Amino acid sequence: MSSDLISENSPKANAEVLHDALRRPLHDLRISVLDQCNFRCPYCMPEDEFHADFEFLRKEQRLSYEEILKIARVAAGLGVSKMRLTGGEPLLDKRIDRLVSGLAEIPGVEDLALTTNAMLLAPQAQKLADAGLHRVTISLDSLDEDVFRLMSGGRGDLGRVMDGIDAAQRAGLSPVKINVVVQRGVNDHTVIDLLDHFRGSGHIVRLIEFMDVGNRNGWRLDQVVPSRHLLELVQQQWPLRRVDQSYPGEVARRYEYVDGEGEVGFISSVTEPFCGSCSRARLSADGMLYTCLFANQGTDLRESLRNNADDEELKDVLSQIWLQRADRYSELRSPELAEAHVLRKVEMYRIGG
Ligand SMILES: C[S@@+](CC[C@H](N)C(=O)[O-])C[C@H]1O[C@@H](n2cnc3c(N)ncnc32)[C@H](O)[C@@H]1O
Ligand code: SF4
Repeated sequence: MSSDLISENSPKANAEVLHDALRRPLHDLRISVLDQCNFRCPYCMPEDEFHADFEFLRKEQRLSYEEILKIARVAAGLGVSKMRLTGGEPLLDKRIDRLVSGLAEIPGVEDLALTTNAMLLAPQAQKLADAGLHRVTISLDSLDEDVFRLMSGGRGDLGRVMDGIDAAQRAGLSPVKINVVVQRGVNDHTVIDLLDHFRGSGHIVRLIEFMDVGNRNGWRLDQVVPSRHLLELVQQQWPLRRVDQSYPGEVARRYEYVDGEGEVGFISSVTEPFCGSCSRARLSADGMLYTCLFANQGTDLRESLRNNADDEELKDVLSQIWLQRADRYSELRSPELAEAHVLRKVEMYRIGG
């Protein structure tokens, strides 16, 4: 199949629309600002692997804000209109509002979001909104104190996370999305309670299948609760009806409660892969650009930046990466190989989901 770089009459001023080898456009950039985290969710950064002696990136190894903004500007010029700050835990970076304001000023950025575990969100929510952040996605796996603690690796404080959600709403960082990773035998029995709590709040809960990202989380297929089972479970409680995608390439299948109490989404990377419409590039804190959540290698943009590449050179590098992109790991996934953890894959804490 051919790949191409074409100018389209798009609402994004002067942006070219870049398609990869499978005709997928480049629309989203996920920027991981830090590889460190204040949680140790066992499905992402299990404590025995990410222990006190684990060596995270040092400051000079991480991209500076100027470097991130340079890449973001070039990406916007190539058609990226959605940007998301993530990590690790992005709010461990106390000055992140400055990066937000830099990103918010880039022409063509129509949607600027941040994913967080919300432990540090309450005191920062208004500052982030003032800096130009549009909305937040908050990871919260259970409202059962014990289950929540277990799934945050013993680090989370449920009260502080709930305060963070309230502060986000007050600051207008909405719609607030709540991401729930569902793991069989761990938190699946608490899903209905969580949905019940957020029904009618305006927040959108999204139930995510436990994914075989990275090599350190001991993923097994029998720990995945297929979205279709969760859908049946929810339907038994509250009738749902399907809603159209809110934008092309949206990964969640959207449903709304028939009684008008809001929306719930299902993200089914394992049982119903959505590679065919994936339009995301992911930048790690040390400047590696990955074109798939399950990639085993990326392209080192930090080296180009620190060799003084100008915008045109960076544009060429990004274009070439996207034009050659043919990743579709989830569609090709072999559960046996994934369970054997023999494929080298980038870890989730490095690229932020
Ligand atoms: C890596 S975290 C980074 C941002 C922030 N620390 C947080 O938790 O929101 C981004 C998202 O990835 C999700 N995630 C991490 N590991 C996962 C896995 N194995 N399967 C599915 N989702 C996962 C988290 O639940 C979170 O919503
Ligand atoms: S999912 Fe987020 S909060 Fe949990 S360990 Fe990974 S990066 Fe940290």
